[in-house]
Amino acid sequence: MENKRSSFSSSLGFVLAAAGSAVGLGNIWRFPYLAAKDGGGLFLVIYIVLALTFGFTLLTTEIAIGRKTKQSPLTAYKMVHPKFRWLGVMACIVPMIILPYYAVIGGWVLKYFTTFALNKGAEATANGYFDNFISSPVEPLVFMTLFLLATAGIIILGVGDGIEKMSKILMPLLIVLVVGIAIFSLTIKHTDADGAVRTGLQGLKIYLIPSLEGKTFKDVLVVIMDAMGQLFYSLSIAMGIMVAYGSYVKDEDNLMKSINQIEIFDTMVAFLAGVMIIPAVYVFQGADGLGASGPGLMFVSMPKIFTEMGFIGKIIGVVFFLMVIFAALTSCISIMEAIVSSFIDRFHLTRKKATVIVTAISFVMAVIVCLGYNLLFFRFELPNGSEAQILDIMDYISNNVMMPIVSIATCVLIGWIVKPRYVIDEVTKTKTKFGRKYLYIAMVTVIAPLLLVILLLQALGVV
Ligand code: ALA
Repeated sequence: MENKRSSFSSSLGFVLAAAGSAVGLGNIWRFPYLAAKDGGGLFLVIYIVLALTFGFTLLTTEIAIGRKTKQSPLTAYKMVHPKFRWLGVMACIVPMIILPYYAVIGGWVLKYFTTFALNKGAEATANGYFDNFISSPVEPLVFMTLFLLATAGIIILGVGDGIEKMSKILMPLLIVLVVGIAIFSLTIKHTDADGAVRTGLQGLKIYLIPSLEGKTFKDVLVVIMDAMGQLFYSLSIAMGIMVAYGSYVKDEDNLMKSINQIEIFDTMVAFLAGVMIIPAVYVFQGADGLGASGPGLMFVSMPKIFTEMGFIGKIIGVVFFLMVIFAALTSCISIMEAIVSSFIDRFHLTRKKATVIVTAISFVMAVIVCLGYNLLFFRFELPNGSEAQILDIMDYISNNVMMPIVSIATCVLIGWIVKPRYVIDEVTKTKTKFGRKYLYIAMVTVIAPLLLVILLLQALGVV
């Protein structure tokens, strides 16, 4: 007898779970950096235009494929068209590569949260603290294991009792924390040793006012590609996640409304992350401080800023890392769910068995990622010119190479083989209007695959 497929209990449950997946480390440590680097408001405008066109197209396509096939990525694509079985395999390998390193970074966040919660935040500002921590033999493994087990614990509880319930608790909390820190960030003021005064509102101006000064056409193209790469990761597209989550949406739910809400939620949190981070970095470190991103921003710059804030910084530090844990955990849950649901659908395993197997495989891979900073340390130059070790290589292969390929193939499948009607009919079967229909058709057939090819060639160092 076939098991009844689990589902989200309501549209709100789906929106919060999908937004939880979308809002993650990408929003917090990459978006503000790209915005600062790419001319503030100019990046924001381009990002929003791309979110409403490119992001909307890919998000709609994946969610509709999931709901129509009622399958997770590994088996969904072959149901759309038998010749696209390989695409399902690839869409399942992507989260398998991402999960281990996401859990490792989740562990780092947990470590910093613990440090600040124990009132030892000042220690985290010592030179080399972060490098010493990630290259130490035991601590990163312990925190990674805790983070991975927390993720697995929620997945085992299932779609309704685990993922949905967790998202309904964590996402509203996350919003409250992000808004609170953003408002605080705008109120701060700092005077340098040489008497220069900088305020949060000046930092906000840098973030919001579009700067086209000295920008050539080629620079604007770079901004477009940066925004597109960011959008891709941020909306959890091409990771199999939205197909899996889409498969849990009830047939009677209004898909278009949910998709719009997910886009708004993710873009709003990314924007607020900028309001939270850019003014604070600017006030305490000046315009030069805005050059940091990723681990450098989160684990080196931010602790310094919290410590410089004095007593209030101790509280803001705890709240900040708690908020990042929520964001990273809800994303990590969705990454694991894409794989677990694939194993359940393909191999007919129980949820418990599938979760144990996926956790065990990810644990071994995550240990290798941790060892990449000590026993297995090496440096490697990626085709895009950046220096990398194991974590960066896994990020590059999944994020820069495989994800664009998955999305190009998805566009070809929907745009040219089964035709956009496949998705449009699924979205409108509840008699709802498909807003931006002609835009969707133009995007999925021509514009999105073209932009994606450029993104891929750029990642491969060809252009
Ligand atoms: N969308 C998730 C993030 O931004 C994966 O981190």
